[in-house]
Amino acid sequence: MSTDCSKAPNLKSGEGFRSIDPEEISGRERYQLLTSLVVPRPIGWISTWGSGDTPNLAPFSYFSALSHAPILVGVSIGHRSNGPKDTLINIRNRLAFCANVVTASQLEAMNLTSAEVDAAVDEFGLAGLKAESSSRVDAPYVGGCPAVLECLLEKEVVLGSAPNTLVIGRVVGVRLDASLPLMKGTSEVDPEALLPVGRLSGVGYAMPGDVRKIARPG
Ligand SMILES: Cc1cc2nc3c(=O)[nH]c(=O)nc-3n(C[C@H](O)[C@H](O)[C@H](O)COP(=O)(O)O)c2cc1C
Repeated sequence: MSTDCSKAPNLKSGEGFRSIDPEEISGRERYQLLTSLVVPRPIGWISTWGSGDTPNLAPFSYFSALSHAPILVGVSIGHRSNGPKDTLINIRNRLAFCANVVTASQLEAMNLTSAEVDAAVDEFGLAGLKAESSSRVDAPYVGGCPAVLECLLEKEVVLGSAPNTLVIGRVVGVRLDASLPLMKGTSEVDPEALLPVGRLSGVGYAMPGDVRKIARPG
């Protein structure tokens, strides 16, 4: 993999830095810059019901926590040239989705579920996963996934002309594997037990390695 950015088109060099105007670079370059600088990104592994109750599963790393009162999460879904991705279609139809936390042992399975396949294809099956029904929302979740956020569609926001749609979900339930340890006296899940996967740029991923704890000042 080349790391010589000086050869990238339209990246102007200045006095010891490169000044980049997003308006002057291509969409591909904007994507590469953004996704290599906002890192690591959590992955929302989004599960929904499609038509005929076909389970649908796909990873999204334009995904983040937005608020905790109420608990809101956001996932930004790009559109294909022929229309919205299945995940967005399904969320609109059922007004619900589950955001499964991708953990180290699920990395390969997560990757398999990103295949651009027909809506009739069950990505759970492609990746050897079991779709379980959420009891709180009209969506499946990944059987065996240690942490799942069960969400109702709160709001959709159209983002630019890429086009991308930001789906905001209200978390109405959290499923946690009983064996997951919480940090002493808190509701914080121990990251070294959960081993969540973060996305870097391209096909790179990161897992907690050197976890450091630093007390806040004051
Ligand atoms: C790690 C990873 C992160 C991804 N993040 C996004 C994303 O944030 N937004 C998006 O539109 N597609 C993203 N994709 C691509 C989708 O997973 C892919 O288009 C998938 O086929 C969509 O499935 P669907 O049509 O069933 O919704 C990502 C793929 C991978 C492997």
